[in-house]
Amino acid sequence: MKKALITGITGQDGSFLAELLLEKGYEVYGVVRRSSTIPKSRIEHLYIEPHNSTKLFLEYGDLSDGSSLRHLLSKIQPDEVYNLAAQSHVRISFDQPEYTNDVTGMGVLRLLEALKEYKSYTKKDVKFYQASSSEMFGDAPAPQNELTPFRPRSPYAIAKVSGYWHTINYREAYGMFCCNGILFNHESERRGENFVTRKITLAASRIKVGLQDKLFLGNLDAKRDWGYAKDYVEAMWLMLQQDKPDDYVIATGETYSIKDFLSAVFEELDLDWGKYVEIDSYYYRPTEVNLLLGDASKAEKKLNWKAKTKLNDLVKIMVKNDLLLAKQELHNKSFKNE
Ligand code: NAP
Ligand code: GDD
Repeated sequence: MKKALITGITGQDGSFLAELLLEKGYEVYGVVRRSSTIPKSRIEHLYIEPHNSTKLFLEYGDLSDGSSLRHLLSKIQPDEVYNLAAQSHVRISFDQPEYTNDVTGMGVLRLLEALKEYKSYTKKDVKFYQASSSEMFGDAPAPQNELTPFRPRSPYAIAKVSGYWHTINYREAYGMFCCNGILFNHESERRGENFVTRKITLAASRIKVGLQDKLFLGNLDAKRDWGYAKDYVEAMWLMLQQDKPDDYVIATGETYSIKDFLSAVFEELDLDWGKYVEIDSYYYRPTEVNLLLGDASKAEKKLNWKAKTKLNDLVKIMVKNDLLLAKQELHNKSFKNE
């Protein structure tokens, strides 16, 4: 039975990847960091049938703490490591540039060093996946593929570029099986609430049931290539099943503006977004990435991977989930008021 170690298991992608690997019969170990609350809402369902809860284990660790990473590798002895942990919010990386660089950039180096050391005494070449990002392209011309030079425009993107190159360097210098997945934006009903798509689907649903009357947003003109997280974790796994390690762009090949996403969501709920949305400069970034559009033809050819879920279906999945949450919230509120 294969063992996988996932950093960032409590995040959006970590939860979908854990689900996928459990379905494939893996024993899954997730790294969680200590906090005063237990952020397990995205993985709680994995402890309930039909998921195989007996094969899911959580361990404390942190990307800012190399000794915890070394300890986990020797304790778990994984076959595959998926590094999904990061301070992953681009705008917040301008508020916390050092912290972001430490976790999102240096954290990759700490994990690779721990893997190198582990390999030196076990002779075992653990397969390593690094969650690289389309944000690294910054303002490079679209469409962007594996050969497009990076032009990062945020502390987050710069940290990701350093993690990307460390991953390649450990592959070339030490012959380790290390892959970069350069994933374009991917969303879901488990997306963090302060990323723009989820912020919109949550607010529009609350507006629909009368719990909210305004939605404040920043730049509506930026364009993103948005896919569905559940499709994208499959690509991560496929990369580690190849004979040779390599880097792959994962994207849908379609791009839409924030305004397009906004209209699709409000239309799905039969609302006119113009009546509810206001612009707040707080949500603008000092430097913006205006256009992301991925060319995933290498992944299609070599991994036989293609995005299944397009924007309209993604909108339907997210709205359905968030409308249900809004209705529950309304119900709980009226119940309390009785
Ligand atoms: P996410 O929902 O923000 O999850 C991030 C995860 O990292 C959480 O589990 C978080 O734990 C954990 N984490 C943060 N700091 C940590 C630390 N110091 N040590 C250990 N764990 C830490 O992100 P996501 O959307 O799932 O994305 C997964 C990865 O893919 C990230 O590296 C992201 O940068 C990258 N990426 C995402 C996209 C996208 O569109 N979603 C696209 C390209 C690349 P807590 O739950 O405790 O906060
Ligand atoms: N978050 C947010 N909140 N973004 C807004 C808002 C708002 O109120 N209003 C407009 N936007 C715009 C941002 O300026 C950006 O152009 C776009 O919406 C998308 O923002 P996010 O959803 O925060 O995602 P991101 O593209 O910056 O970063 C995500 O994708 C990257 C891959 O390209 C994150 O998941 C990163 O971790 C990931 O690497």
